[in-house]
Amino acid sequence: MSDQKFKVFVTRKIPDTGIKLLKQAGFQASVSSFDGVLPRPDLLKKVKGVDAILSLLTDKMDAELMDAAGPQLKIIANYAVGTDNINLDDAAARNITITNTPGVLTEAVAELAFALMMSAARRIPESDQFTRKGKYKGWAPMMMLGSELHHKILGIIGLGRIGSAVAERAFFGFKMKIIYYDVKRNEEFEQKFQAEYRGLPGLLRDADFISIHVPLIPETKHLIGKNELKIMKKTAYLINTSRGPIIDEAALVDALKKKRIAGAGLDVYENEPKLSPGLKDLPSAVLTPHTGSATIETRSAMAELAAKNIIEVLNGRAPLTPVKKP
Ligand code: DGY
Repeated sequence: MSDQKFKVFVTRKIPDTGIKLLKQAGFQASVSSFDGVLPRPDLLKKVKGVDAILSLLTDKMDAELMDAAGPQLKIIANYAVGTDNINLDDAAARNITITNTPGVLTEAVAELAFALMMSAARRIPESDQFTRKGKYKGWAPMMMLGSELHHKILGIIGLGRIGSAVAERAFFGFKMKIIYYDVKRNEEFEQKFQAEYRGLPGLLRDADFISIHVPLIPETKHLIGKNELKIMKKTAYLINTSRGPIIDEAALVDALKKKRIAGAGLDVYENEPKLSPGLKDLPSAVLTPHTGSATIETRSAMAELAAKNIIEVLNGRAPLTPVKKP
């Protein structure tokens, strides 16, 4: 228990488990009562004088915000694994610790990536609509034909925890051949999953399914654009559960419209929550509203981990999951 009443601001309602931990630690934790992303002027006011901020991926954490909080601000605990909403240089310049929530959301996001892969390949949303609208008039040999995952080639872009968890499901569950692209090779992974390393063009050329798992940093913005989409097989599917701006969304819409690739499964968007014109009208695109980590188990675990990071840092100990600039 801390004998000081450290102040913590939580920018939006999250599962109670995290808030309870903060209170049990003796902190004064206040949670935004606004049901939405706090407008910037309100956020700037609310953080004034706090020792810790529990932020969401929808909150921009930059110099202005950190200075509005004041020099006592010690930690920003992001309720996400991605930290592209946080200016890490601004935080480092002010000696503010940044943490994220890796590990606890790996399985949930990998499951959603797989769900999108299967939904796109087997045309699940389209079939569901077809059935509900009364268009199903009886079994037909050529109705709703899709693609199998079994024995196909899965290309993983970004071999972190989530990319590896997707590969595991693909290799053991669907006997898929795994190829991957990352900034560095991982020989242990290659052995475990009989995986092969490829450069990005090689992966795009060979994969039947491509699943993206890289963080959003300047180098990964529009990693997949018009030229990359052109390299993909006409029969291939592109899945993105990482960050929207990694794909040039207008180029993807164009490729899907022209049937240059078979389909896409997207959980994230370039200008979230807005969709690029035409995207919502494409039956070959399966769209979910950034729900990669949205399971009861995972969101509670994220709340606990974010709270524990705050507790450690405010008690003068090392954070559990610090973020360093990639
Ligand atoms: C994250 O944690 O970065 C995910 O995008 C949340 O779903």
